[in-house]
This record gives sequence, structure tokens and C-alpha cells, in this order.
Amino acid sequence: MAERESIAVFGAGYVGLVTAVGFAELGSEVFLVEIEPRKREALEGGRVPIYEPGLQELYDEVRGRIHLLSAASQLPDSVRLAFVAVGTPPAPSGDADLSAVYAVVDDLVTHTPRGAERAVVMKSTVPCGTGKGILRRFAELGSDLAYVSCPEFLREGNAVEDFFAPDRVVVGEVGDWAGEAVVDLYRPLLEQGVPLVRTDVASAEMIKLAANAFLATKISFINEIANVCEATGADVLEVARGMGLDHRIGTAFLRAGIGYGGSCFTKDVSALKLLASNSGYHFQLLTAVIEVNELQKRRVVQKLERHLGSLAGTRIALLGLAFKPHTDDMRGAASVVLAGRLLGEGAEVTAYDPVAMERARQLLPGLEYRSDPYQALAGADAVVLVTEWPELVALDWRAAAHQMAGRLVIDGRNVLDPKTIAEAGLDYEGIGRPAVASRQPSGAGKEGS
Ligand code: UDX
Repeated sequence: MAERESIAVFGAGYVGLVTAVGFAELGSEVFLVEIEPRKREALEGGRVPIYEPGLQELYDEVRGRIHLLSAASQLPDSVRLAFVAVGTPPAPSGDADLSAVYAVVDDLVTHTPRGAERAVVMKSTVPCGTGKGILRRFAELGSDLAYVSCPEFLREGNAVEDFFAPDRVVVGEVGDWAGEAVVDLYRPLLEQGVPLVRTDVASAEMIKLAANAFLATKISFINEIANVCEATGADVLEVARGMGLDHRIGTAFLRAGIGYGGSCFTKDVSALKLLASNSGYHFQLLTAVIEVNELQKRRVVQKLERHLGSLAGTRIALLGLAFKPHTDDMRGAASVVLAGRLLGEGAEVTAYDPVAMERARQLLPGLEYRSDPYQALAGADAVVLVTEWPELVALDWRAAAHQMAGRLVIDGRNVLDPKTIAEAGLDYEGIGRPAVASRQPSGAGKEGS
């Protein structure tokens, strides 16, 4: 393997860890700078502190090339590229909170020797204009640091795969050595045919926000179509299939459900809307995208009420709590809004998730957590499939029916087979699909709706 450039990665969250492990696998020595001692200790002990398929295995393989540090002062002078992958959560104002980003930038300014060739490479999602602001800061402080915007598009749950086979690599640069060095770092992927978008910093920042906002728009669009399908008797799965075959539309991201979640979409859509309005432009479409998504999470409560009447005193089981399968991330999860509403209506809520329960307990202390899905269903009047974990999709619905007191199954992700549910003696209701009533003869032991 040709000599690969050593790099620094700031932040051992989802993006930082995958970036560090990915570049280590491609042959770089990686200095991973993490301020939280607990995360460092876990990694030093060989344990990846987040759940991401394949990441632990890859970390085990490349650990020898990953060096954990707590601050920029410990970086060898020879490290030129410092990837920033720290959190940019929404501030109370709705703007992205860039304090962690600026803490890293200032740390690097302070501990980068004058005249050294070093660049801040921004992986964190930041509002457009951040790069310009940081470059201005460098100039004010007399720093020689360079700047590159290199937004990350990885999907949680597929992050390792996405690192090695991204749809594109975006490098936003000002035309100095640093852009070239980042492109070189990605060379092994580019040689495999991954497209490269080499552009200016402001455009790179906007690509990231616009891509996520468009994907969120696609989801809110199909969710509205689903809601209309419910009123007209159409099946949104058929509609999406028919629409998606038009190559100008495409099949991806046309899955109707109880709304998108995760930190990126919720954060980026709001950030772009706010960015527009701060510049005097009212981004009407995004206002609707956000509102549709919020209402979509709540529509499940109406469905439950339609079948069960008042929810006070009912028992509702939530299957799946993470914002999507294969992650323990609860940020922006539909389960949080839904559980809050159900508890607010006076329902008792039982819950199961294969990996996110520990995190969920902190956010949703009012739920009754069960260690397997069938236990969560015990005595339930209705069940809502919130997250399409494979083990939940493959549930034995006859066994489930025996556990439940009622009959209603709400498929929040349209992943269950209505016929199987009906044959198990349960009533199926999806999102934007015709409801299918239980095939079990009445009086066979299930009271319910
Ligand atoms: C997203 C982007 O895909 C990624 O490129 C970006 O870097 C970060 O944000 P992620 O948040 O990991 O990634 O999840 P993603 O798989 O995109 O799903 C986001 C949400 O949309 C999930 O809650 C998912 O359930 C929902 N979704 C997705 C739908 O409701 N319908 C769909 O058709 C697709």
C-alpha cells in the first residue's frame, strides 16, 4: 500500500468514528480527538461506544492505526488534515449550535505552529456561510490554517458501507493545497468510480443541506399522498411503486410511514429554512415539509382512537423505538412524540426495541420496557410497529395475537403483510393502505375494538 497521509478526526460520534475507522482501513494513521473521557476509555478498551453495524469489527481490525487524544495540543506537527466531526445540535433559536465546532477550531488555531501546513476539514453539517466565517476567524487571528468543506452523507445503520461506497464525495475548497490533499485521501474510493464534486466552500455546504431537505420533502410528499390514499381507498405502496418507476422520480425515499426522524433531517430542514429566512427568503415548501412530518407522527393517535375510543386506561405496545432500524439513535424518533401523546391521553405504554432501550429509558421514563417483543404485547389493546427492525417484521403474529388483549395492529412503516396479520386473528391498519379486518370468526377469544 502506498504511504497514506496521517489525519486527525475531532469527535468520536457516528460521523467521526466512521470517518476515523474508514480512513484507518484505507491505510492512514488516525489521531482521534475526543474530549469525553468515557468515550475515550471505551475505545481504548476496544469497545465502540455506539451501535453501528460492522463498525466494531472494523475497529478491531484497524485499532493499531487509531490513536486516541483529548486535545489538539497532542497532535503530531506532521498531521495536516484535521477533520471536524463534532455535534452541531439545534440551539434554542433553531440555528445550529456551532460552539463545539468553534471550540475545535480555536484549539487548532492555538496549537498549530505558525507556518505549518494544516487544514480544518469540515465534516459536521454546518449552516452555509460557516466556512467563510471560519476563514475570517483565521485571518483575524493571524492563523495559517486552511479550510475545506467535506460534507458527510452517511446513513446511520449503513454508515460503514456508505463510507466505502458513497454516492459522491464533495470537496468544497478555496483552491489551495488542502483541497488537493483531501481529494488524494479519497483517491482509493475515486479510483473505484465514486464521483467527485469539487467545488467552492459555500456550494459544498449548500449541497449537504439541499440534499437532506430534498429527501425529507420526498418523504413528506409521499406521506401526504398516503393520507389522501386513506380517503380514496388507494394503496400508497402501489402508488409509490408506479410513481417510482419514472426514472425522474425514482423509487428511493418513497416509503410512507409515521414520519422521518433522526438528527440530520430534522436539524437540516430547520437549518435551511432558518438560513433562508435569515437572508430574507421565506422557504414555504420546507415549512410544509416540517409540519406534515409532525402531524404524521400524531396521526397514529387518531387511528388508535378511531378503533379504541378514548385511550385513557388502554394498553398500547410500541415495537421499535429507534428512529430507524440498525441504530440505537433516538434523536428525532417518532416513538418519542407518539409515546408522549399516548401517555398524555392516559394510556399505559409498553415498549420493546432490540438495541435502543437503554437510550430510550432516559428520554421516555414513563414507558414500561420489556425484554422481548411478545412480553411487550402482553395484555395490549393495540400494537404500533414504530421501527421496522427485521426481527419485529418477522414476528410470529399468531403468537403475538395470543399475548394481546385486543386485536389492532398499526403498521407505522407499511412493512407487514396485511393478510398474515388478518389470518392471525388481528386487524391490520397501515399508513395510506386499506385496512384489513381479522379473518378470525368473531367470539374466538378476542374482544377488542
Ligand atoms: C440521513 C441521510 O440519508 C444521510 O445522507 C445524511 O448524511 C444524514 O441524514 P439518516 O438520518 O441516517 O441519514 O437516515 P435515513 O436512512 O436517511 O432515514 C431518515 C428517516 O427517514 C428515518 O426515520 C426513516 O425511517 C425515514 N424514511 C426514510 C421514511 O420515512 N421514508 C423513506 O422512504 C425513507
